[in-house]
Amino acid sequence: MRSFAGRDILSLKDFERQEFFRVFDVADELKPIADNRHNSDLCADKTLVTAFYQPSTRTRLAHEAAMHRLGGHVTGFSDAKMTRAGDFYQESIKDTVKMLEFYGDVIVMRHFQQGAPQEAAKWSSIPIINGGDGWGEHPTQILSDLYTVYREKGRLDGLRWLAVGDMRMRTMHSLGYALTQFDCPVTFVGPPEMSLPEEYKKEFESYSLDFSEAEHVEQAIADADVILVEPVVQPDYTKSRDERSGDVNLTPANYKITRELLTKKAKSDAILLHSLPRMDEIPADVDITKWSRYWQEAYSGVIMRMALIALVLGKME
Ligand code: CP
Repeated sequence: MRSFAGRDILSLKDFERQEFFRVFDVADELKPIADNRHNSDLCADKTLVTAFYQPSTRTRLAHEAAMHRLGGHVTGFSDAKMTRAGDFYQESIKDTVKMLEFYGDVIVMRHFQQGAPQEAAKWSSIPIINGGDGWGEHPTQILSDLYTVYREKGRLDGLRWLAVGDMRMRTMHSLGYALTQFDCPVTFVGPPEMSLPEEYKKEFESYSLDFSEAEHVEQAIADADVILVEPVVQPDYTKSRDERSGDVNLTPANYKITRELLTKKAKSDAILLHSLPRMDEIPADVDITKWSRYWQEAYSGVIMRMALIALVLGKME
């Protein structure tokens, strides 16, 4: 297995099966630190740099919280407008990264341009973690989701997934790549105008992913062990910021997971994930049902980032 030390985490494409399990093992090892709400000193001599060109609650703060739990330091920006990359100069990724690499030991980047973290990695002497790039990928989110499932179910192989939402969404692409490494059939349900881009379909086919598409969640929910939901009412991920102006549409029933639907059709032991933020696709009354796991998923997000940071910094092998 390849070492994680010094490695960029840009995509789940070509992330090998045993590498998933290695990350999960390290996450298990570090989990007691977070469970006990302690900060360790594992990364006390290291600094995480956050470079966020798009809004984020979870991804940025979970990476920062993870670094604090590891006893490390954090610096960075949460809005490029306050930097030269987001003002008159529109400083390039190369020029920005050639600065950031002197300010810390690992960079987590979110960007509205697909491929921006890859561009950063070309120029950076320190590891780059992709915190979401345009419509591209969101590898740390899906690692967190798989870890949540692995802990809940004790396995990944043999579980059937239902993925609901906008199939142009970066989480869906990382999910597809990740599931190629497991015996996990997946059904994608999304609006026709937000269907899985052809390039990803071709890739998933070439990696032998067992996937199908359906029009309505009712067609696939009864067989699902894991239901992963994303919004279909959402901003344009190619923009640095997409402010809401006025009312937004409601989510059609095809892409909505209600308490009634879960009660009538879902497996009793299925688990429901949502990377959040949500609109109305999972109403709040689902939160207290036996299916919901999205708060655990958010907590897994901290533990997973602890594992990834420790691994790429060479603090765990
Ligand atoms: N799940 C997720 O990426 O959330 P944020 O946009 O708040 O980081």
